[in-house]
Amino acid sequence: MSSSSSASIEWDNYRFLQKYVYSRAGIVLEDNKHYLFESRLAPILQRLGLDTINDLCVLLRESGEVEVGHRVVEAMTTNETYFFREPAQYEAIRTTLLPRLKEESQYPKKLRFWSAAASTGQEAYSLAMLLLEQGLAEWDLEILGTDISTHVLERARSGRYQQIEVNRGLPAPLLRKYFTSSGLDWQLKDEVRRMVRYEAVDLRESMRSRRPFDLVFCRNVMIYFDAETKTKILRELRGVLGQGGWLLLGGSEPAFGAEEWFERQFIGGATVFIAR
Ligand SMILES: C[S@@+](CC[C@H](N)C(=O)[O-])C[C@H]1O[C@@H](n2cnc3c(N)ncnc32)[C@H](O)[C@@H]1O
Repeated sequence: MSSSSSASIEWDNYRFLQKYVYSRAGIVLEDNKHYLFESRLAPILQRLGLDTINDLCVLLRESGEVEVGHRVVEAMTTNETYFFREPAQYEAIRTTLLPRLKEESQYPKKLRFWSAAASTGQEAYSLAMLLLEQGLAEWDLEILGTDISTHVLERARSGRYQQIEVNRGLPAPLLRKYFTSSGLDWQLKDEVRRMVRYEAVDLRESMRSRRPFDLVFCRNVMIYFDAETKTKILRELRGVLGQGGWLLLGGSEPAFGAEEWFERQFIGGATVFIAR
């Protein structure tokens, strides 16, 4: 089998793939992403015994292979994540949001959280560990973790992480307390794993039927969308947050008109968007 070179993706196939991924996930891949397509799609070519990305495009165009199409889109998502990413945001939750919710909530104390581009689960589980560390185990807690990629969700549900993954951001005391070593990997204990429910959700879908959340993480995913998609998602997210609910975006992401629905506040080193 020959490996494809940049020149080997014909231009109309490149356009086809751009549109294919955009229509199925909203992800914008610019004209200079040949290398990304090649590196991400190589394992799929290999599995299918295809020589080039052009052959893959023929398959997608002509046979309407749903499963292959799904794998292509998944391969083009970027799933980078780690425990307690942007620690200032977790610190703001600990010092400001949780005390406020504790004060406001009536018995039984219910708190609802959503990790809306959860990837392999580190974001949702970091929050779960934080809640346990704050002594909230007896509360009625719901953490929803969603992602468009079913592949990452399977990993998230398993709660199994490699050494290199637990080395990123997870404080050693929390590793010792909430994980057990399992061969070369680390297994998150059921006590934490059971706190998060995972579901496949495309952020471009209507969120109208979702219950009000106290906090939504929507971090490091908007960067892949165009302005129209971002604005629509921000409006929908406002709709699922109760007044005063928090939206946390990735620290380096522009907030694209979020001020229309949210008040931007700086808490410690964190930027927080509070539903108006
Ligand atoms: C870079 S990860 C961010 C993970 C985590 N939020 C963090 O900040 O560490 C981006 C995730 O967004 C997901 N994603 C991409 N497009 C999506 C869409 N249209 N709907 C839902 N999730 C999407 C990807 O599958 C990927 O797992």
